[in-house]
Amino acid sequence: MSKKIFSGVQPTGNLHLGNYLGAIKNFVELSNDKENECIFCVVDLHAITVRQDKDQLKNNIRETAATFIASGINPSKSIIFNQSKVHAHAEGSWILSCMSPMGWLNRMTQFKEKAGKDKEKASVGLYIYPILMASDILLYDATHVPVGDDQKQHLELTRDIAQKFNKDFNCEDFLKPPEPLIKKNFSRIMSLKDGSKKMSKSDPSDLSRINLTDTKDQIINKIKRAKTDTFPIPNEVQKLKDRPEAENLLGIYSSISNQSLTKTLDEFGGKNFSDLKNQLAETLLSKISPISDEIKKLINDHDYLDKILLEGADKAEVIAGKKIREMKKIIGF
Ligand code: AMP
Ligand code: TRP
Repeated sequence: MSKKIFSGVQPTGNLHLGNYLGAIKNFVELSNDKENECIFCVVDLHAITVRQDKDQLKNNIRETAATFIASGINPSKSIIFNQSKVHAHAEGSWILSCMSPMGWLNRMTQFKEKAGKDKEKASVGLYIYPILMASDILLYDATHVPVGDDQKQHLELTRDIAQKFNKDFNCEDFLKPPEPLIKKNFSRIMSLKDGSKKMSKSDPSDLSRINLTDTKDQIINKIKRAKTDTFPIPNEVQKLKDRPEAENLLGIYSSISNQSLTKTLDEFGGKNFSDLKNQLAETLLSKISPISDEIKKLINDHDYLDKILLEGADKAEVIAGKKIREMKKIIGF
């Protein structure tokens, strides 16, 4: 069955292995299926919910687009664009925010995490961030949204908002509740330094993550220094319980090698972490370094990247513009 795919990545720098294995790798696989219509958005409006440096933001928008292309998304087959170029995203977000109850937003765990202890100082944008995400998705009638596990709650909210809009305005099926596409096993890649924390762009320790632009030496060094425990690698998945660092490294290896965790345990059960680490570093080099080399090549070609983003925005504008006009008519504008 053909799918309408929409997903977004924030241009906030330091794209890492978690972004790749949790989301971008999935984008590539979906975009390789000719039946699917795919739209991948650099969500720059989301990025400014926390303060961004102007020049860095510009650079990060290009770098995110370069990462999509370097990872294998073909811009002549999929739409790649940045959100701020298509007005309908912000407009749809306002309309949807007027019919979304605050109670729904108060439940969002990512806001609580990102706002930290002093919620009063967090921006209003950060609070209503999930509504902008709902607008992104619903404007394109996306049927499927590939994301990492941390976005599951935002997608449930998107579904609720779609259903409420349809009910409030008596327009059954107008907004389409999307299905999340979250990889069953490897949708949450953890920090290399602490198996209880998500691998994240904003972790102050660069050793906690493999950046997609890391050099070969950096990758080798980070894997070598990744936290493990003192027991040998088990033979069974159940025995990984309460061993988050071991589970994470074995999960990363499985995901990057496209094999099940059981198969990885067949390969490494009873062995030492140094064996796993050597093999993992080698596999990462073979899969990540070509992407990294390509990103570095593309990032200097501003004209090419800007052209892709502009052409993508023109195509996105046609779809989202039509939907927002219908939406405005429905509410009485
Ligand atoms: P962001 O960088 O927050 O815009 O995230 C872009 C995509 O990467 C989203 O689909 C996230 O769910 C996914 N993602 C981010 N961090 C991780 C992680 N540590 N493990 C798996 N997926 C992740
Ligand atoms: N909120 C997502 C994240 O931080 C990014 C995002 C914005 C997104 N809009 C989206 C993802 C629409 C999927 C669909 O990872």
